Amino acid sequence: MGRKFCVGGNWKMNGSKASITDLCKVLTAGPLDPNVEIVVGCPAVYISFARSLLPESIRVAGQNAYKAKSGAFTGEMAPSMLLDVGADWVIIGHSERRQIFGESDELIAEKVAFALAEGMKVIACIGETLQEREAGQTEAVCFRQTKAIAATVKDWTNVVIAYEPVWAIGTGKTATPAQAQEVHAALRKWFTENVSPEVSDAIRIQYGGSVTAANCRELGSQPDIDGFLVGGASLKPEFVQIVNAKQ
Ligand code: G3P
Repeated sequence: MGRKFCVGGNWKMNGSKASITDLCKVLTAGPLDPNVEIVVGCPAVYISFARSLLPESIRVAGQNAYKAKSGAFTGEMAPSMLLDVGADWVIIGHSERRQIFGESDELIAEKVAFALAEGMKVIACIGETLQEREAGQTEAVCFRQTKAIAATVKDWTNVVIAYEPVWAIGTGKTATPAQAQEVHAALRKWFTENVSPEVSDAIRIQYGGSVTAANCRELGSQPDIDGFLVGGASLKPEFVQIVNAKQ
C-alpha cells in the first residue's frame, strides 16, 4: 500500500502575525514524525509570513484558489499567486466554501483541475451533511462530489482527498473510527471502479471533522485513513500530537 500519511491543518479565517508566530514556533520545535507529510492551510494574507517562519519540511497551503491566471475576479486569487508567496498546496471545495459561498461540484472540479495545471498540490474536500447522512445518502453524496472532480482530473499524483462529514466539522462530534473507515473504504472502492486500481491504491484519503490529540490514533489506525485535515486543533500545540498519530 505504502501511502505516505498526510496531515493538513486548516487554520480557516483565524490568526494574526502574533498568533501565527507562536504557532510556527511550536510546529518548528516539534518534534514531528519525519514520515508524515505536513501541510498547513493558512489565510492567504499570512502565507508569505508563515512560510518565512516554518521549516521547509512543513508545507503551506492556501484555502481556496480561482480557476484563472488573472482577470476581473474581485477578491479572488490565482494559483500562481499562491505559489508566488510560498504556498505549493491549496485546499479546494471545503464544505464551508460549498455551504456558505455556494460553490458547486462543477466549479470546485474546475478549480481543482486548474490548480493542478498550475503546478499546485490539492486537498480536495468532500463530505455529507447530517441531513444527507440521516437520509442514507452519505455514499451517494460523496460519490457525486468525487465524480465531479474525477471528470476534470487526469493525473491524481498531486491530489489528496479529504473526507469531512459536515456534521463533524467544528462540532466535537467526531465520526467514529468505524464510520470514517466505512466511507474511506467506499471511496477507495469507487476509485478502483471508476478511475483505476493504481490510483485507488495510491491516493491519500484524509479524514476531517473534530480530530483531536485524543482521537487521532484510533482514527489513524484505520486501513483506509491516510491522514487528517484538522481545523480547530491545528491552531493549538496538540496539532503536533496529531501529526505524530502513527508513532
Ligand atoms: O478542514 C478541516 C476542518 O473542516 C475540520 O474542522 O475544527 O472539526 O477539526 P475541525
